[in-house]
Amino acid sequence: MALRGVLRPGFVQLRVLDMDKALWHYQAIIGLQIVSTEPDGRVYLRAFDEFDRHSVVLRPAEEAGMDCTGFKCDGEPFLLEAESALAKRGIHTEWVAAGEQPGMGRRLRVHMPTGHLLDFYAEAELSDRAPLTRNPHVFREPPSGAAAIRFDHCLLYGTNVAAAQAILHEVFGFELAEHLEDPTGSPLAVFLSASNKAHDIALVEHPEPGKFHHASFLVEDWAAIGHAADLMAVYNVPVDIGPTRHGITRGKTIYFWDPSGNRNEVFAGGYTFYPDHPKRSWEFEHAGPAVFYYEKKLNDTFLPVVT
Ligand SMILES: [Fe+2]
Repeated sequence: MALRGVLRPGFVQLRVLDMDKALWHYQAIIGLQIVSTEPDGRVYLRAFDEFDRHSVVLRPAEEAGMDCTGFKCDGEPFLLEAESALAKRGIHTEWVAAGEQPGMGRRLRVHMPTGHLLDFYAEAELSDRAPLTRNPHVFREPPSGAAAIRFDHCLLYGTNVAAAQAILHEVFGFELAEHLEDPTGSPLAVFLSASNKAHDIALVEHPEPGKFHHASFLVEDWAAIGHAADLMAVYNVPVDIGPTRHGITRGKTIYFWDPSGNRNEVFAGGYTFYPDHPKRSWEFEHAGPAVFYYEKKLNDTFLPVVT
């Protein structure tokens, strides 16, 4: 196995203001399935092509945003190594008990310099509706909504992105695939990969810590992006921008909001990343096409609106 340590983004836990509206949105628009509703009010969902029990957790709250996002790792020894490396750096960590999310093993919770909680875990129950593995059909049951294949990544806004990037690289093995510079040439937005994907997490420097920009879901191709756009038009889902394409990562995309104001993305494509490839970078004066390749300029909402 070539992929070691961090395997993939595993889940995101989002705060929602109205659970009924949120569940309609995440099922009918994005195409997720409900896995369980727990006594504390949290609802667990998954995309049809994911093996693990759940990938999206919605928690009823007074304020929108992200509680935490988690990464599935290849074993407990990796977590213990990370815990000790983080302690040497003076980074605050704690263990979230097994079962705090149903079906999940214990999670090493890292208090990142950006103000976010990133969880790393090695155990996750398999879904009883997981993709078939013997003479497998392309799906077990026809996917609904935009037919999201998987939860793919988050983009987070916060403080001290350089320090967070160093932790993710040196402790967890994430590689910088691409970045956007600020007007002085320093990194403003970094796109980090723990795999072959163009990014598994993206971070943007921001004066306020712990902010959430979007959670992204992979769909099959341009046609699936078009179908998602049709759904958003029919059901009056507020759209930030798209369908369009990013210069950064080259993904084809739509950004839109859930009923609580959390931004979502459906995307398809993007280049294949290998850690020995030269890093791509964008100067600030090219931020327009870097972010929205066809429009060649930013809109009024994409940079400033976060939860
Ligand atoms: Fe994204």
